[in-house]
Amino acid sequence: MLKLAPSILAADFKNLGQQVSDVSLAGAQYIHLDVMDGAFVPSISFGMPVISSIRSCTDRIFDVHMMVEEPGRYVSEIKVAGADLICVHAEACTHLDRTINQIKEAGLKAGVALNPATPLSVLDCILSEVDMVLIMSVNPGFGGQKFIPYTLTKIRELRNLCKERGLDTDIQVDGGVTCDNIRELIDAGANVFVAGSAVFKGDAVANTREFLKIFEEY
Ligand code: DX5
Ligand code: ZN
Repeated sequence: MLKLAPSILAADFKNLGQQVSDVSLAGAQYIHLDVMDGAFVPSISFGMPVISSIRSCTDRIFDVHMMVEEPGRYVSEIKVAGADLICVHAEACTHLDRTINQIKEAGLKAGVALNPATPLSVLDCILSEVDMVLIMSVNPGFGGQKFIPYTLTKIRELRNLCKERGLDTDIQVDGGVTCDNIRELIDAGANVFVAGSAVFKGDAVANTREFLKIFEEY
């Protein structure tokens, strides 16, 4: 199933609760929450207090993208804040297997994220253990960047790998996703689409509906 995950990084933070509730009512299935620590990525975004403050605004899946060094340190706090799914970067975990298991043992869905230049081979041992793989299609740290075209090949290769292994792992794509390139991403095998600027710049309800209308073609 195709799912839209609006990234609140591009939302209007002074009306955050309203924006989250608007995109949820418009039909977005996930809310994508970008936690940045100023170390793994250059910027600092937000953390637990913001996540917990908007938890009551929606019943949608809280998909927390941890752009944080050693994110295993925060699994229980992110869970308490309201996460349903925690996605950690392979590049940020010294003990990726341990961190993934920590997330699953906390009763949450677990995802692993790869930067654009990180090869799929790092997934070899962990692929069957995760619910989702996040393919970054920009270098993480900022919203509003341009989609990096070679990541399309990565998505295609990952979908083939999952098929070969009999896995129906969710493949999420994050960065520069728009209504203009989403069909290519669907064709390549992605099924969870993060969109920040393309949802929240302008009319978030109309933009959400436009994405969901494209999903109906499939
Ligand atoms: C970037 C974040 C993204 C970001 C996407 O590091 O992981 O989730 O919000 O923003 P857009 O859709 O504007 O590229
Ligand atoms: Zn993200």
